[in-house]
Amino acid sequence: MTQTHFGYETVDETDKAKRVRGVFDSVAKKYDVMNDLMSAGMHRAWKAYTVAVANLQAGDRALDIAGGTGDLARAFAKKVGPTGVVVHTDINEAMLRVGRDRLLDEGLVLPTTICDAEKLPFPTGRFDLVSVAFGLRNMTHKEAALAEMNRVLRPGGRLLVLEFSKVAEPLRKLYDWYSFNVLPRVGRFVAGDADSYRYLAESIRMHPDQETLKGMMKGAGFGHVDVHNLTGGLVALHVGIKC
Ligand SMILES: C[S@@+](CC[C@H](N)C(=O)[O-])C[C@H]1O[C@@H](n2cnc3c(N)ncnc32)[C@H](O)[C@@H]1O
Repeated sequence: MTQTHFGYETVDETDKAKRVRGVFDSVAKKYDVMNDLMSAGMHRAWKAYTVAVANLQAGDRALDIAGGTGDLARAFAKKVGPTGVVVHTDINEAMLRVGRDRLLDEGLVLPTTICDAEKLPFPTGRFDLVSVAFGLRNMTHKEAALAEMNRVLRPGGRLLVLEFSKVAEPLRKLYDWYSFNVLPRVGRFVAGDADSYRYLAESIRMHPDQETLKGMMKGAGFGHVDVHNLTGGLVALHVGIKC
């Protein structure tokens, strides 16, 4: 059986998706408060930057993959207006339910679908923009997922991948200390789950760095890829154009 990574552990490929599901089933209800706490609110700025780069216009069609509690989908929906469409998707029902309820509370009714990024249930060329924020890291077959994202975009459409990345050297020690000492403790205290936040720290270290991900996106068919480093490379926004 083929092996892959779940954080620092080596697991069978078939087990990874189950383990990832366990993480997000466990954290779904506290996901938003934990995001604010552990990033000191910075995830809002990273997402706002992503929305600005997306530059969606009225009438555009966007797909948010691994959309979770719906931050990007909500912001995109406001940009595309009633003539556009934003499809809010995730593989995890618990995360999607929290997101859908939040969107409904704000008067936004979006098409919401459980789906695996590695097998997208949408026709070829359907979307102007596809986004995936902090989701790619959790996928077992990242190349397959990127190829699917490319397939559902129209020619000239863009993929935005917002993800933790390789932090600049001067920040590394402090960041490692914070990730492996503070994060799991906050996770235990707030979400009753230290392990999921230890997985978060480990999965970030196992994720491809800026240049590697850029190469993977090119390999998946994106003719042009730009990398925007945010907060010293702690996070990177990769923008791929389907040429
Ligand atoms: C850290 S959350 C990100 C949620 C949201 N995009 C955000 O930025 O707040 C990662 C999400 O990726 C989803 N995910 C993991 N593997 C996936 C897959 N193969 N297909 C689609 N979603 C997946 C998880 O269920 C989870 O909701």
